[in-house]
Order: sequence, then structure tokens, then C-alpha cells
Amino acid sequence: MGQGIKDETIKESNQNEKAVPVTVAYGDGIGPEIMEATLRIIRAGGAKLDLEVITIGETVFKKGITAGIEPSAWDSLRRTKVFLKAPITTPEGGGFKSLNVTVRKTLGLFANVRPCLSYDPFIPTKHPDMDVVIIRENEEDLYGGIEHRQTADVFQCLKLISIPGSERVVRYAFEYARRYNRHKVTCFTKDNIMKLTDGTFHRIFDEVAREYPDIENEHWIVDIGAAKLADSPEQFDVIVMPNLYGDILSDVAAQIAGSVGLAGSSNIGDGIAMFEAIHGSAPRRAGQNLANPSGLLLAAVQMLVYIGQGDVATKVHNAWLRTIEDGIHTYDIFDPAVSSRKVGTKEFADAVIENLGKYPQKLKSVNYPAHGTPLKIQLAKRPVPFKELVGVDVFVDWRGSADELGKRLEEISNPEFQLVMITNRGTKVYPDGIPETFCVDHWRCRFQSSASGQAVTHRNVVDLLGRLVTADIPPIKTEGLFTFDGKPGFSLGQGQ
Ligand code: IPM
Ligand code: MG
Repeated sequence: MGQGIKDETIKESNQNEKAVPVTVAYGDGIGPEIMEATLRIIRAGGAKLDLEVITIGETVFKKGITAGIEPSAWDSLRRTKVFLKAPITTPEGGGFKSLNVTVRKTLGLFANVRPCLSYDPFIPTKHPDMDVVIIRENEEDLYGGIEHRQTADVFQCLKLISIPGSERVVRYAFEYARRYNRHKVTCFTKDNIMKLTDGTFHRIFDEVAREYPDIENEHWIVDIGAAKLADSPEQFDVIVMPNLYGDILSDVAAQIAGSVGLAGSSNIGDGIAMFEAIHGSAPRRAGQNLANPSGLLLAAVQMLVYIGQGDVATKVHNAWLRTIEDGIHTYDIFDPAVSSRKVGTKEFADAVIENLGKYPQKLKSVNYPAHGTPLKIQLAKRPVPFKELVGVDVFVDWRGSADELGKRLEEISNPEFQLVMITNRGTKVYPDGIPETFCVDHWRCRFQSSASGQAVTHRNVVDLLGRLVTADIPPIKTEGLFTFDGKPGFSLGQGQ
């Protein structure tokens, strides 16, 4: 038995000594300076990393590669599966996709974890007791980038929310809460309006929450939830939410905690992760040894925890806290009332390195598990529901009145379909519309089976579209109306 214990110890220390392959991108703007500072600090703290440097962002965009990343960089990311990324500049103007979003979605990084806590009294804040972790869904929602101009008047962006996407991030939030001894997970959605998309996120939240009776849970509609977060953040602990709300509210939370410049984040996938500051590349501050490396450093701390070098993470994070406490501050957080020395990026890094081994005296110190493993998420098994086509929403481009359009459509809907309603931007205008409703040139025309509740075929839909084209009412697009195990998978129109 004694032998066994000894082996275990040796294995652990060996594991600790092994350098972990990590892909690094120095980024644009202030990126190279803050990356250099960050790497210097974590190496001095004892991080054992085997770095692969890739070039992404501006340089690559300038070569005409609109994704901002080349195949060799993907190879590195897929090899190391750990990515420390400095901020990137996405060139302005059309044609360039956000590289951040591309990387997150391509690598399946489903959860974006953004701790926002205050460092009172060393960094001024109205919320001295704030300690909130925002866990943001990271792949879907309005970030699909699926947008279309459909008529002269109207543009559309698709909001996609999936059951697995919601479940992965919600489970991650609860697992995170459990591992880091947090007592509550809050969910923000706007499901009083978006009953199917946000409604799904909320429903999955309620479902998963039941599996974690040890952790409190609650849901707020995002508008009032955001107001409460901005007013009394100390009432929140972990907050999980869809992508766009999470983008907006993590900036708000980081800023009211003290500064967006201090927040680091991890983007977590299944066996692969990216770590970055939440702020941008600040090109105007670049190359002047001004920038605050704290956001990237705290992201690197999260990375060290992820790769099982939690002992180093603890050392670096405590040294950083001590430096903040010492009042050694970069220009962005320098305040004569609390700061003792204004320093540049390099000098700030030097100060943190000097504090390695020290603990904060007033701020709460951190203590990560020395050799932890990444959280693993397992999705529930769900039966595939029975799906049936019961009608179709046809969107048409039409300049004229609702009644005129309705009359024309009544004529061509037969024999399989019945025109149930027409809406304009979601508001019912036919039958029985009122003249006050303002209409644009974009109409949603709902056709359902003329034998009520009966299924229709895709062939029926194609025939209907053919009749529309013949009648010179060109369809923009269609949405199938499906039931799932008999339950409608579509919203009813307002006023219906
Ligand atoms: C963030 C950023 C990104 C986002 C941008 C740069 C694409 O704001 O990481 O929060 O919207 O997610
Ligand atoms: Mg953002």
C-alpha cells in the first residue's frame, strides 16, 4: 500500500513538471505588450508551458484573408487545445468577420466565463462587495451572423437558440458553482417576449437546476435583472445567460466592479479552451508601454487552473492582488487618492514578479486546487420528438394594403391551405386589421391546413409557392410550421 501512495506522489510531481503545450497569439494594438508582460509574470511564477506562437488578426486580414486566421494556426489550436489570446483588431468596413467569434464557434467554445469582482478600496467602485461570475453562452443567439436584407425596407438577423447549446452552458454554470463553492446561479432571459428561443434557455435552466438542489437558483427577465445587477451586484453570484445579453452585461459588470480593463475570461469547450481579456486591442494606446496587462494576466491565471497548474495560478493571482493593494497602478486605474505609483506595462509586470510568494493583506487571497482538472459536461439524453408539418409562414415583399394582399392570397391558398392571418413586423393586420398599424413592405402570411390541425406535405408548400410566383407576389422566404409531439413549434402572431 505504502508503495502505491509513493507512486501517486511521484506521478503528481512529474505531471507538474511537464510543460504543457499552449498556443499563443500576441494580437494587435496593445496585445503584444500585455502578452509579453503576462508571459513574463506567469513564467516567473513557475508556469511550465511549451508555447506555439501563431499570427492572427490584422496582419492576416491585411493579406486578404477575411477570416483573419490561416490553416496553420488552426492546426496549432487543434494540437494544443489551449489558447492564450491577446486582443485582436477586426478591420472596419464590410467583409471582415469577427475573429473572436470565428474562433469561439469553430472550436465549440460554448461557455464564456467572466469573473467580475471589486477590489475595494484599491480600485474605486460603488459596489465594494461585488463578486459576480457571468457565464455567457458563447456560440449561438444573435451571434450566428445570419443576416439578410429581405425587402427595400427590412433587414433580418436570425436568433438561434438550441437545446444542446443552452444545456451545455447552463450545466457548466452549475458545475462551476459547485466546484468554486458558489451558492446561487441566476438566469437572465427575455422569455416574456421570446417564448420559444429565450423560453427554451429558461426551461433548460429550470430543468438542470433541479439536479443541483445544493445550489440556489432564480430567473430574472433580463431588463429588470440588468437593472438590479447594476444597482446591487452583491445580490448575485453566478449569472448564466444567452450570448448577446452576456456580452453586454459582462462589460457592465466588469466596469461597475472597477474597470473592464481588469477582467479576464475563459472560453470553454469540450477538451479545448481559449483565454483572453474581455477588453479590446486599444490601438490608440499601443506601443507606449501604457496598457494594463491585468485582464490578460487574469485570463492566464484561469488558463493555469485549467491546465492543472493551479499552484502557479494561486501564486500569480495573489501577487497581482498584492500589487493592486500596493497601489502600483497603470494609467487606466491610477487614482491619486488610492494609488502610490503610476507605472507602465513593463514596470507593472516587474512589480507583480517582485510580489510572487506574497499575499494580499486586505483583499481576499485566492487558493486554487493545485492540480485540478477541467470541468466535464455531460448532456442529458433526450428522445427525438415526432415532428409534423402543419402549415407554412410565407414572407412576401408587397407594396399595398393588407386587405388587398389578403384578398389575393385567399384566392390562391386553396385547396390545401387556408390563409390564417397576415402580420406586419409581427402584428396582425389581416383579417380585421386597423388603419393605425404602420406597415412596411414585409409581410408574414400564415397558411395552415384547410382541414384544421391536419398535416400538410412539403409538396403542398412548393405548389403554394408556385401559385404565389404566378400571381406575382414573390416570396422572400418560408418558415415551416411544425408540431413536435403534437405541440406547436411556432409563436402565435400578436393580436391573433
Ligand atoms: C467580447 C467582445 C466580442 C463579442 C467582440 C469583439 C466580437 O465584445 O468578447 O465581449 O462581442 O463577443
Ligand atoms: Mg463584449
